[in-house]
Amino acid sequence: MVYDTRVCCLIGDPIEHTVSPIIHNAAFQKLGLNYLYLAFKVKKSMLKEAIEGIKALNIKGLNVTIPHKIEVVKYLNEVDEIAERIGAVNTIVNKDGVLKGYNTDGEGALMAIKENGFNLKNKIVAIVGAGGAARAVSHFIVLENPSKVTILNRTLENAIKLAEDLRKKTKVYCEAKTLDTYSIKESVTEADLLINCTSVGMYPDVEKTPIPKDYLKKDLVIMDIVYNPLQTRLLRDAVEIGCKIINGLDMLVNQAALSFKIWTGIEAPLDIMKKAALEVLEKKRL
Ligand code: ATR
Repeated sequence: MVYDTRVCCLIGDPIEHTVSPIIHNAAFQKLGLNYLYLAFKVKKSMLKEAIEGIKALNIKGLNVTIPHKIEVVKYLNEVDEIAERIGAVNTIVNKDGVLKGYNTDGEGALMAIKENGFNLKNKIVAIVGAGGAARAVSHFIVLENPSKVTILNRTLENAIKLAEDLRKKTKVYCEAKTLDTYSIKESVTEADLLINCTSVGMYPDVEKTPIPKDYLKKDLVIMDIVYNPLQTRLLRDAVEIGCKIINGLDMLVNQAALSFKIWTGIEAPLDIMKKAALEVLEKKRL
């Protein structure tokens, strides 16, 4: 029946790059669930109204993306322990008007790193960015006992805040740096794994990169959480230099599957989700 269709959606700005509706709708269809997933562009200044609208329209589940992941926390009724620790939410479930926030980004990223055969123990990790995604990813990375985590960010104070938060929760050595050429060079020289957790390079700005090619080195593993395009400029440069790369697809699908389970209580069909995402991203060839 149409009137009892459960609606889930993504809120963010920009959202033009997203493939979340494709992968969730493919999963709902595969399992025969009466759910529909939409994407809404919500400006930073309209977040409060959007959340009120979620309650008013009884929307079942939400994904939250740039730039709302941190800000949205204050509009929620409850926040799960992991999201609380991270300080950012990418998934919300609406239980009879009570909104509870979760974060599936960090776990999704860690699963992707492991699936790609990288063992974080005693490794040096450089994380570019200090926003919601960087918070989630770094909080899960420190659980695996790397020897050091460096947060590099355009705005130093955001990097300092994240490094301080991490230090409170782990014994892993965490430091903060500005994203300038000197710090990039210093951090890349010592790092084993570099992860771009900013939106730099995302469609439509596909020629941008957070780390200029000249600073990359061959024995570095490079991961980009940007999944559209699948081969970002950063990853293309990395391949040319001979680095091993991890694209954003596995993290995207893993975090989506975890969100799906939170909304529906049902295990997500990961393979169907990945196939749907790949189909659309490869067709776009962005
Ligand atoms: P998300 O929730 O996806 O992490 P966010 O919280 O808005 O989004 O964070 C975006 C991150 O990308 C931030 O680290 C931001 O840096 P600032 O803290 O300086 O804002 C980073 N970022 C966005 N655009 C950038 C750019 N053009 N160059 C470098 N960093 C950028």
